[in-house]
Amino acid sequence: MENIYIETYGCQMNFADSEVIASILQQAGYGMAAEAGEADFILINTCAIRDNAEQRVRHRVRELRALQSRRPGLRVGVLGCMAERLQSRLMAEEDNVSFVCGPDAYRRLPEMLQQVRRGQKAAEVELSTTETYDDIEPVRLAGNGISAYISIMRGCQNYCAYCVVPYTRGRERSRDPETIVREARTLFGQGYREVTLLGQNVNSYAWENVGFPELMDMVASIDPQLRVRFATSHPKDLSDRLLEVMARHSNICRCIHLPVQSGSNRMLKLMNRKYTVEWYLDRVAAIRRYLPDCSITTDVIAGFSGETLEDHEDTLELFRKVRYDYAYMFKYSLREGTYAWKHLADDIAEEEKTRRLNEIIALQGEIALENNRREVGREYEVLVEGESHRSKEQLFGRNSQNKVLVFDRGDAVPGTYRRVRVESCTAATLIGRLVQ
Ligand code: 5AD
Ligand code: SF4
Repeated sequence: MENIYIETYGCQMNFADSEVIASILQQAGYGMAAEAGEADFILINTCAIRDNAEQRVRHRVRELRALQSRRPGLRVGVLGCMAERLQSRLMAEEDNVSFVCGPDAYRRLPEMLQQVRRGQKAAEVELSTTETYDDIEPVRLAGNGISAYISIMRGCQNYCAYCVVPYTRGRERSRDPETIVREARTLFGQGYREVTLLGQNVNSYAWENVGFPELMDMVASIDPQLRVRFATSHPKDLSDRLLEVMARHSNICRCIHLPVQSGSNRMLKLMNRKYTVEWYLDRVAAIRRYLPDCSITTDVIAGFSGETLEDHEDTLELFRKVRYDYAYMFKYSLREGTYAWKHLADDIAEEEKTRRLNEIIALQGEIALENNRREVGREYEVLVEGESHRSKEQLFGRNSQNKVLVFDRGDAVPGTYRRVRVESCTAATLIGRLVQ
């Protein structure tokens, strides 16, 4: 039997896709290698969202040459967004890559591997308007047996000016809700206690008369012991209806990822985000009204086209107002093919982007620490996930707000819920004690 090894870069959606890829190839008779060095095929599932993500993959691809010279039959393929973006160009530029496969072509992988085994190169990059892989039962790869991703839709057609995703993942399409509920129910039966529903913009999920609030209602009704999370929400589409459904189900986690990208209306307009700072703050207020204990996290981009110091100050000001629990913070990276690439100059100097990014990071660090200090003394229900990285004597888990709590293990068991009282903290972690 030939073995495959999958390496995954990028977003949660890619991790979910790798589980679909593993399933397709297992069905076709391939085994899973325990490490890259034992594989016949290495598949690298990639991200194209920023240039540094692509550079990391290129570096890894080149590094694999050494392994390939020791194992002459070993073939390397590039999958996902970078494969879609660069297509066969990638095989010309990296000549140890034998195949490229885009996000909607994974069903063709068994054929492609055969072709590659015969010594040919293969490229499949056609995008689809209907593919959702809804009949494929993912093989849980990186799983702890407790928490799993479920992809509920694919693609994006919001066309934010800076973003390559609409070009690499194609049109938005939703997956049949019955298959989603079935997958969640199966996971629960297998002992999983948390599912995260994934899409580029879950709020625009639509299947006949089922919208995202209805879907959440269906999944949350499976069992009160099954936690439900979701990502990502576009602020323009976050509805009160969803917040109502969340308020009705205590097993829908109190954590909303609401990427803001910028705190300046001028930038938001240029970015084609279709909301204003006022609209965004109104959505934050709605979250706090329906779900007073909900954490809010975000994505932000520093140094987008034409960003002035005033625009940047507006972003800092917004961060002070919202007081995010966590933020993913990025420097703007110009992506070929996007609206910004065609029409807007990448005119903020690299050092200035770095300076602005560091200012946001420093501010967010202070805010996260202050937020965490307020948690000291509170008690939370924690889904125990496993051993803490620091000590075998400690376990870690998350509360509904998605904050990590570390505590002495006592009699706690991974995969169960325990009450933990917060006793101290860092900016990233709450440290607590089991409540008996
Ligand atoms: N440059 C920097 N950050 C980007 N993102 C998307 N495209 C770019 C880009 N060209 C960020 C956005 C998005 C997150 C997934 O990645 O903040 O929400
Ligand atoms: Fe990119 Fe915007 Fe779609 Fe998110 S919503 S994937 S930022 S185009």
